[in-house]
Amino acid sequence: MSKKNNKMSCFSCMSSRPKNIEDYDEDMISRSNNSAVHARGNSSDSGSGNGRKEGFLKSKRSGESNNQNNNVARSFAFKELAIATQSFRETNLIGEGGFGSVYKGCIDSGQAIAIKQLNLEGLQGNQEFVVEVLMLSLMHHNNLVNLIGYCTHGEQRLLVYEFMPLGSLENHLFDLEPGTTPLSWKTRLKIAAGAAHGLEYLHKANPPVIYRDLKSSNILLDNDFNPKLSDFGLAKLGPVGDNTHVSTRVMGTYGYCAPEYAMTGKLTLKSDIYSFGVVLLELITGRKAYDTSKKQGEQNLVVWSNPFLKDRRKYFHLVDPMLDGQFSSRCLHHAVAVTAMCLQEQASFRPSITDIVTALDYLLLQAQHSGTHRGGSQSGKHIPPPSTEEFNVSSRNRSYDNMAITF
Ligand SMILES: Nc1ncnc2c1ncn2[C@@H]1O[C@H](COP(=O)(O)OP(=O)(O)O)[C@@H](O)[C@H]1O
Ligand SMILES: [Mg+2]
Repeated sequence: MSKKNNKMSCFSCMSSRPKNIEDYDEDMISRSNNSAVHARGNSSDSGSGNGRKEGFLKSKRSGESNNQNNNVARSFAFKELAIATQSFRETNLIGEGGFGSVYKGCIDSGQAIAIKQLNLEGLQGNQEFVVEVLMLSLMHHNNLVNLIGYCTHGEQRLLVYEFMPLGSLENHLFDLEPGTTPLSWKTRLKIAAGAAHGLEYLHKANPPVIYRDLKSSNILLDNDFNPKLSDFGLAKLGPVGDNTHVSTRVMGTYGYCAPEYAMTGKLTLKSDIYSFGVVLLELITGRKAYDTSKKQGEQNLVVWSNPFLKDRRKYFHLVDPMLDGQFSSRCLHHAVAVTAMCLQEQASFRPSITDIVTALDYLLLQAQHSGTHRGGSQSGKHIPPPSTEEFNVSSRNRSYDNMAITF
């Protein structure tokens, strides 16, 4: 791990292309350990953008937003954020996660924001802060949350995001208040497809980015249920060249973590695909990835669903009762098939994110164009296997014929 000049701005590494990508990744941490952010800290200068590293992401791709040019994360003074949240008032608290508390606020421009005040126990919080600012300064896509700015004030580390009015996916899937309308099948597909696009953008970056913390609480929703991935503090630059994995300390969230990664610490893009499969399973079943309120044997969603995933005649056992049969059996069948592929024990058998995007876009298109038919979940009917011809439809100019995903 290379030690760089402590005085260097924490974002200066974005101004030149790294010689060695793994060094670069380690550098994020060494810089944070050396309190390079601190050196920049206490800044009251607003509007001072950080530089962007040219060439990290090449040409503009589908869904990639134009934020790079006009919406660069800026440094906020602590006072500004205190005013925006009425001194971090309890009533402004909108969420609490493993890394800190999230407050709703409003800045001078009138824009609603969400401020995450990181819990800085040990060095970990600072590392995550640096990685998050770096990642979100470089990555801009319609399905990634937009980082408006950050604040370093003494020991304080705060991240300022666009406010996502519908909160996270988990708020809409689990423990619904009586009388709340559950997410429709079509909306679930829309969220799945959008999240897949966000992940595809990360996996197709150069070098690829492994997200490492894909879960329903990190999928945030706008007013139209468009999803955006959030929380990049655990993200890692993926393997380059002939390397197949990067070795890391096992981090992530119980219930979503790929088994091979949990056991060996070897992280690949396919670790994210497994976590994506768990999110798909949550969308289909309405059950949490890990739920201690359930009886033994049902607490781990993947373990519970395994017998049903293995037998397509049992797929209907998986369906969220809240869907009340309002889905197409055929569409459900394919969605479960994609999920089962993502969750395969053998990482190399899992599909690529691009194949998943193609499959989910197609299913969403079908759901949008066909009215909702009652599915088999309530009636207990077996779901007929779909004909392969139906799937020879090109989505984004790709044919299912050429895909790793075959039904
Ligand atoms: N940008 C945002 N807009 C609206 N709500 C947010 C935003 N970021 C986070 N939240 C809310 O705060 C909660 C806690 O977020 P977070 O600290 O990331 O923890 P976790 O992802 O572990 O739940 C989220 O589940 C979400 O409900
Ligand atoms: Mg989160």
